[in-house]
Amino acid sequence: MPPRQRPRTDLTEGIVDGVYKAYERRLQADVLSAPVPRHVAIIMDGNRRFAESLGEEATAGHTHGKDKLEELLGWCLQLQIRVLTVFAFSTENLTRPKEELEVLMDLFEENFRRAGDDERVHRNRIRVRALGQIDLLPKAVQEAISYAEERTRGYDQYAFNLAVAYGGRQEIVHAIRRIAADAMQGTLQPADIDESVVSRYLYTSDLPDPDLILRTSGEERISNFLLWQLAYAELYFADVYWPGMRKLDFLRAIRSYQRRQRRFGT
Ligand code: IPE
Ligand code: MG
Repeated sequence: MPPRQRPRTDLTEGIVDGVYKAYERRLQADVLSAPVPRHVAIIMDGNRRFAESLGEEATAGHTHGKDKLEELLGWCLQLQIRVLTVFAFSTENLTRPKEELEVLMDLFEENFRRAGDDERVHRNRIRVRALGQIDLLPKAVQEAISYAEERTRGYDQYAFNLAVAYGGRQEIVHAIRRIAADAMQGTLQPADIDESVVSRYLYTSDLPDPDLILRTSGEERISNFLLWQLAYAELYFADVYWPGMRKLDFLRAIRSYQRRQRRFGT
């Protein structure tokens, strides 16, 4: 690009940026004037495609995805969304190439440890937890998870859940096994098993069901995420790759949730 055109480009960018910021502020004020969802769950999809769109190695997308998650946590705190659950890694993802798994496991290890030390986490009393078949993960990741969970166990202001080695059907199977074991022991009568009992045996036993489930990257699937819990959730699909999600996109999802009338089947 000839140098004399540079200032004009910067100026245009500056204007676009300013308009974007002003719109974001208005949208945030709008969103804050109505009740926000208590529990937001997110299927973070599109990390590899995002990196490839930048001409980077696909696995570099996971680092961008991790950065976006840190940003998202800040947005949720600003909006006072009490419970955030993100799908970070599915049981199916365990079949990905070894090199990619190493990148992901390193990120989990580093970031669970970081979460345990994070000043934001302690100041806002955020309980950090991993949901899933943790025993399928490398020891180092398991230890990092225990570190974050133990350091935040007493907190109840916010809940931040990362679904790792998670599968919705597997979660239900585990619950059924434990319910069956308790029934055989005689501590639970089959006739007493109802929806609330089943909910209590899930990883999310003490959390409200998600009000809003957001998936990025334009795919419109649930992919085995929170199958039991999503019964009445509003679904929102955003056409951006996860690392490319802007606060504006997130605010739009919340506003869309607020505009829909939730009837719970009545
Ligand atoms: C989501 O991004 C992160 C994980 C599933 C670990 P992907 O890795 O699925 O990236 P795409 O969807 O292939 O672009
Ligand atoms: Mg994907």
